[in-house]
Amino acid sequence: MRKTVLILDFGSQYTKLIARRVRELKIYSEILPFNTSIKKIKELSPSAIILSGGPSSVYDKEAPSASKKIFELNIPILGICYGLQLIAYILGGKIESTKKREFGFAKIKKVKETEFLKGVRNESQVWMSHGDEVVKLPEGFERTAYTDNTPNTVIENNKRKIYGVQFHPEVVHTEEGKKIFENFLYRIANIKPEWTMESFVDTSIKKLKKIIGDEKVLLGLSGGVDSSVTAVLLYKAIGENLIPVFVNTGLLRKDEEKVLSKEFKKLGIRVRKVNVSSLFFRKLKGVKEPERKRKIIGKTFIDVFYKEAKKLGKIKFLAQGTTYPDVIESTSVKGPSAIIKSHHNVGGLPAKLKMELIEPLRELFKDEVREVGKILGLDDWFIKRHPFPGPGLAVRILGEITRSRVKKLQEADLIIREEVKKSGVYDELWQAFGVLLPVKSVGVMGDKRTYENVCAVRMVVSLDGMTASWYPANYEILNNISTRIVNEVRGINRVVYDITSKPPGTIEWE
Ligand code: XMP
Repeated sequence: MRKTVLILDFGSQYTKLIARRVRELKIYSEILPFNTSIKKIKELSPSAIILSGGPSSVYDKEAPSASKKIFELNIPILGICYGLQLIAYILGGKIESTKKREFGFAKIKKVKETEFLKGVRNESQVWMSHGDEVVKLPEGFERTAYTDNTPNTVIENNKRKIYGVQFHPEVVHTEEGKKIFENFLYRIANIKPEWTMESFVDTSIKKLKKIIGDEKVLLGLSGGVDSSVTAVLLYKAIGENLIPVFVNTGLLRKDEEKVLSKEFKKLGIRVRKVNVSSLFFRKLKGVKEPERKRKIIGKTFIDVFYKEAKKLGKIKFLAQGTTYPDVIESTSVKGPSAIIKSHHNVGGLPAKLKMELIEPLRELFKDEVREVGKILGLDDWFIKRHPFPGPGLAVRILGEITRSRVKKLQEADLIIREEVKKSGVYDELWQAFGVLLPVKSVGVMGDKRTYENVCAVRMVVSLDGMTASWYPANYEILNNISTRIVNEVRGINRVVYDITSKPPGTIEWE
């Protein structure tokens, strides 16, 4: 049976990173909220538990806590930052607010060599972010490393296999972070590195065959990486019983349909295409408000897909390219922030279609999805394509959506992608795209006055789209993009560069 590491989430911004680090060591990991019941934890039967960090103090009135019972399950436990404080607090130690908050780099010094710190250098750099510290250890614990400001930086109870670190081993700034995870998972919890994408593909195909049998599966292809990889995986499992449907809304990148058809043809997969661009333009006529655009597109998409599905007769399953970040979004500890944008991810479809849902990638992170795509034979350039939002170019055209405005943006967008690829930075970026603004400015071309639209160029780096930094593109890329857009795209006479990070901006403009 597959070994699982359970990560209990206490609200840290780094929780997802912990899960990724564990997976990088080829061990399957899952994140669940801090208040997951002992019954559920027992059912999951994890081989190790990691308590994440979090913004609270254990003495806060509403502080998230864990049941004391998890320490009686006889499962190795590692607490990180708030997780360490919680271990100390629950097991009878004492926590205090530090006089000096520690945030950023610090140096830890080892007190002795232990199984947990085996091979970790005597002095090394770590990443700290805390306001509280453990001032009295619980019974049975010893401290095995410290920093100048924090005496109990690493605590261990080797007999009960419970460990805590005040710093963040999951962050790259912690030099020996990987070593610490390796020691905890390989040596202490005794888990073997067996979770690979090859094994995932093998077991998924077997599982899908068994669940689906001779039934048919419907899948909406968006042109993006997730739904494409879902399609190929299903095709390997059930062949022609997979019916991939591609809805062309008219709001896609230039030549999207052609690119997709070519890639799928190569793999022998037949795609059913539905062109409904006129319907979408009709529905969006005169609509300028971003949320209304999103709602209309989401609803129209579902209606079209529903109609298509009806034509195909009775189909038992509906497949979707849901990935692990989507799953975490809906289960992990949520901050007070309200919905900022209503995402278009065909969420209402399964209920309306009364079909059983199949989500073969729901356990995978984006880089794992890409690896699976590669194993299954999708081209490298295809799986490395930047994410594209569900509502398509509509959220990059501020103001009204018309065919001619979409065409303008498609051309500018293609130039941006070509130039970014030419410069060799495409894979470094999370996204690079253009935004068509609803303002006109005056220009001069060939001695003639022009009065045309402005295109904003956006390039960002990001790990998961949740936060992002604007990319300091060099002058040459910016200059090539600007010159080409103004010369080649009719109706755009000015190009500006967006230098806003997320937060406070969002990546898309609407
Ligand atoms: P924002 O604009 O919220 O975008 O900072 C974060 C990431 O999500 C993508 N995005 C979407 N993806 N459906 C999607 O599947 C949507 O409705 C949607 N809206 C934004 C966006 O491209 C960025 O990568």
